[in-house]
Amino acid sequence: MNQRLLPGFTLGKHNIDVPLVLAPMAGITDLPFRRICKPFGVGLVVTEMIASRAVDMGRERTERMAELGDDEHPASIQVAGSDPEFVSEAARWAVGHGADFVDINMGCPVKKICKQTAGSAMLKDEALVARVLEAVVKAVEVPVTLKIRTGWDEPSKNVTNIARIAEECGIQMLTVHGRTRAQMFHGHANWEDIGLAKDAVSIPVIGNGDVVDGESAREMIRISNCDGVMVGRAVQGNPWVLGEVYAALMGLPQPTRPTAEQRWTIVIEHMQHLAEHHGIRRASKLARKHIIWYSKGLRGSADFRSHFQVMADWQQMLDFAETYFLSLCEDAHLEHTTEPHIAA
Ligand SMILES: Cc1cc2nc3c(=O)[nH]c(=O)nc-3n(C[C@H](O)[C@H](O)[C@H](O)COP(=O)(O)O)c2cc1C
Repeated sequence: MNQRLLPGFTLGKHNIDVPLVLAPMAGITDLPFRRICKPFGVGLVVTEMIASRAVDMGRERTERMAELGDDEHPASIQVAGSDPEFVSEAARWAVGHGADFVDINMGCPVKKICKQTAGSAMLKDEALVARVLEAVVKAVEVPVTLKIRTGWDEPSKNVTNIARIAEECGIQMLTVHGRTRAQMFHGHANWEDIGLAKDAVSIPVIGNGDVVDGESAREMIRISNCDGVMVGRAVQGNPWVLGEVYAALMGLPQPTRPTAEQRWTIVIEHMQHLAEHHGIRRASKLARKHIIWYSKGLRGSADFRSHFQVMADWQQMLDFAETYFLSLCEDAHLEHTTEPHIAA
């Protein structure tokens, strides 16, 4: 019998059987990317963050960001903002767009967001956190979840307080990225701090930060006692890392890493989804970073990148990438890099 590490949990009327969550990443975890990731065993996907003010504008791009695939449910749409009214309106809008859960972002470290006291800047004002959470929980009937960092900076770290406030306000699942805002993406995530949140509340706590494979997932669970694992940057160009984390959670043997040919199959499927979802013009722009990530750490990738990154024509890009990936086919199994990298 395989020994599962985590039993899963319920969120409202939904059962999250596999507590493996794909991290929301702005500009990355769109529907095409999530479609590639989900089959590796992801139990819950979250859209990239949608600013609450963007909802009013009804822009086509905002609509596309919120689009959920039929096969993604139950799924979460993430909203951000600091005005309880605006965030509540965004939450209602998200439910209207098919969200089974609404996730609130209080972890984003980006200056532009923090300047409006949104994202991780919210953590400095616990009363405001409570007002926003209460308002959103009241505004929608679906479960509301929260994603945070451990605080603004080391001296003002308040992960325990925020976790308690969240639970008191009716939040049904909490994700903790084990870094303060001041840490941005530096150093290593503090998994003990995720454990502080876990000890403080009885709602499911998802651990996040620096999980790059099955072993690191196991270690995060051991240290923090979290109920689920969220993986972000390690998945860029390496979606099969999710399969490794899935195997660790389910107590299964670690899968082998894909061959060059299997890797190309994933790349081309991803590109087809990108073109369908965004149209070729925008897909050509978005494809570049993904294909470069897929090539990272492979033989001859620096040379490949130097030619590839100046290409703009969709078909030329795909042909060039195909020639490169298939030229690697004589390598039996490819190494991949799990070194986290941050998107531009
Ligand atoms: C490019 C990029 C975009 C991100 N966008 C979001 C976002 O929209 N919402 C959010 O809650 N977190 C966002 N994050 C944070 C991730 O969800 C995650 O918390 C962080 O990357 C740490 O996890 P990891 O070490 O597994 O990458 C973003 C991270 C990156 C690198």
